Amino acid sequence: MLYSPAKLFWLFLSCIVLFVNYNNSGFVTAANSIGLNYGLLGNNLPPPSTVINLFKSLNVTKIRIFNPNTEVLNALRGRREFQVMVGVRDEELDHLKSNEENVREWFKNNIEPYLADVNIAFITVGNEVIPGNYGDFVLPVMRSLTNLVKSRNLPISISTVVAMKNLAQSYPPSNGTFTSLGRKQLVPVLQLLSQTRTPILVNIYPYFAYAEDPKSIRLDYATFDARTVVVQDRQLGYSNLFDAIFDAFVWAMEKEGVKGLPMVVSETGWPSAGNGSLTTPDIAGTYNRNFVQHIRSGKGTPKRPNNGMDGYIFATFNENKKPAGVEQNFGLYNPSDMKPIYKLF
Ligand SMILES: *[C@@H]1O[C@H](CO)[C@@H](O)[C@H](O)[C@H]1NC(C)=O
Ligand SMILES: *[C@@H]1O[C@H](CO)[C@@H](O)[C@H](O)[C@H]1NC(C)=O
Ligand SMILES: *[C@@H]1O[C@H](CO)[C@@H](O)[C@H](O)[C@H]1NC(C)=O
Repeated sequence: MLYSPAKLFWLFLSCIVLFVNYNNSGFVTAANSIGLNYGLLGNNLPPPSTVINLFKSLNVTKIRIFNPNTEVLNALRGRREFQVMVGVRDEELDHLKSNEENVREWFKNNIEPYLADVNIAFITVGNEVIPGNYGDFVLPVMRSLTNLVKSRNLPISISTVVAMKNLAQSYPPSNGTFTSLGRKQLVPVLQLLSQTRTPILVNIYPYFAYAEDPKSIRLDYATFDARTVVVQDRQLGYSNLFDAIFDAFVWAMEKEGVKGLPMVVSETGWPSAGNGSLTTPDIAGTYNRNFVQHIRSGKGTPKRPNNGMDGYIFATFNENKKPAGVEQNFGLYNPSDMKPIYKLF
């Protein structure tokens, strides 16, 4: 059978897509896209069904919730176009850590009721608990959940969300190394993820690095607006701080023998208020719009060129039950009237 030129062209494109999505470590990743963190620490938030319609209108199909909230998961029933990342509450890790039976019970109560009609793609074990007091609980709970989903043949990835405070050094990126506690708690987790071919989830906030040192860090470098190389690190040139932090983490993993493990950006963002002239809707909008473009371009980072990643913006709404100041002002939308704080898409 002869293929028309148009058909051949599509075949050719599909091959490219397959090629791009299959990186040299054998991890298959979906096309890169933007997700949104959906936090619930506010007393003036719209009902979940309204929020889900908002996601739909934005064409955002990747959603992260911090715990298995019943109202949100119920509102997602039958909406399998949304890929949902669900967190295990940090406070539950102690109870779950050494007992597979407790983990099965947790799964039965919190995940199982939704499996038939909610597309739960990830379960995240702990949010930024490594490094820290609960950090040692993450690995055993991840192991139990990994065994559970594997034994039941469920397409759910089990991972954890980590902060960049695991890095003792991050400048220049090739100097990236983990802290000693980070090394102890994180490296075994990274090894498990390598075995299960599951991404590590990282929270990367150029804002906080910039706010700590606005005199030596250029704002345009922090917001992806610099058009030329600002930091030269051996052969690699960096024009934005986000890539530099991301790659510092990649270097730190490599120094622990963890090579080619994909990373998903589970949080990034910029507050639109709360810290004077560093936090305006204008700067926040610039950062987040450029981030969206960066993710959608699929161009990766200098150390992982053409190796795109998914990225979740923090957060959908300003949340008035979070600590005062910048923490309340990461939202893209004002909860009371659902008005955007700046134009994003
Ligand atoms: C969402 O996708 C539809 C169809 O591709 C398009 O018409 C619409 O403009 C998109 N909306 C946004 C906010 O990107
Ligand atoms: C790299 O890290 C070391 C400490 O581990 C530090 O002494 C050195 O200054 C760093 N290199 C650069 C270029 O900052
Ligand atoms: C606010 O900005 C100041 C000055 O740059 C910085 O020291 C501080 O860490 C920032 N605070 C927050 C919460 O971002």
